[in-house]
Amino acid sequence: MLIRRVPSWAIPESHATPERVALNRRLFMAGAAAGAAGLTLAPDAAKAGIFDIFKAKEPPKPDAPDPSAGLYPAKRNELYKLDRDVTPERFNLGYNNFYEFGTDKGDPAQNAGALKTRPWTVKIAGMVETPREVGIDDLLKALPLEERLYRHRCVEAWSMALPWTGIPMKDFVAWAKPLGSAKYVTMKTFLDSDVAPYQASPLYDWPYTEGLTIEEATNELAFLATGAYGKPLAKQMGAPIRLAVPWKYGFKSVKSIVSFEFTDKRPKTLWEAAGPREYGFWANVNPEVSHPRWSQAQERVLGTSERRPTLLYNGYAEQVAGLYRGLEGQKLFM
Ligand code: MTE
Repeated sequence: MLIRRVPSWAIPESHATPERVALNRRLFMAGAAAGAAGLTLAPDAAKAGIFDIFKAKEPPKPDAPDPSAGLYPAKRNELYKLDRDVTPERFNLGYNNFYEFGTDKGDPAQNAGALKTRPWTVKIAGMVETPREVGIDDLLKALPLEERLYRHRCVEAWSMALPWTGIPMKDFVAWAKPLGSAKYVTMKTFLDSDVAPYQASPLYDWPYTEGLTIEEATNELAFLATGAYGKPLAKQMGAPIRLAVPWKYGFKSVKSIVSFEFTDKRPKTLWEAAGPREYGFWANVNPEVSHPRWSQAQERVLGTSERRPTLLYNGYAEQVAGLYRGLEGQKLFM
């Protein structure tokens, strides 16, 4: 029997994990044992089962010191204030969604050590003046970092508040020089099932893919986080570069990005492809629009026993509501 220790602040998994994920985990485990349900698992995953693969792996070699460590802490931009305390760092280090490394909240902290974040190349592609590839440390030199305090609201109805360090995305977009005809930017996570065995699951369209409109990407709030808590990002948080769009549900904030592609076509995101009735492209926070299986009216503030009313656009309506004028016919809140 599988016995899991659930920390006191964690909601029951039936509430916390999108059903499809829970279902997929069961299918994956069942499939690993029996090749059930027509699943075609990668041979190694089928033999060992996904979590045995993690256990069987040699512990990763320690990383060289992070060459960007000297850039942290960066100066805080005082425009971005919180209405609550910063969540203690240990919660963000130990309670993560990073399905490439497992589907339980503690799995990424245990398994993401296998991810090598140097060298790390970011591709800028599609409708840009000059497609190019840039090493993360050159990108960090090209664009100044700042610290911002942001709320972080997961579609699963938990929230945190944290000090991200990173690059305002509008500076990045200006630097990437998209063509005037580009309407969206598509972002993708690395793809390597040796490092992240869950990517061997055929049940998702890997790599993790997300997108924003150019107007969203150049909104003052859109942020490319490269650090948190005054240090380079921990791997489980999406090192070395991830998105932070605090007015949207957390699943938009794609981790460990390797490519930015500017395009005139709206990208199909991983969650939209996996569960179109529950997860959409826009995913703006709205307390009045329930998830099909739970209410979004309140959120559990991790690290406290508090429940707070959820705010429209997660409290950032002043900065972002204008982005959606004229788009009322779209499913803006899923
Ligand atoms: N990015 C990748 N590549 N893989 C993921 O599974 N999960 C998303 C998002 N970005 C995810 C991802 C979800 S559902 C959330 S809520 C946030 O990351 C969680 O970020 P955190 O672990 O830093 O709180």
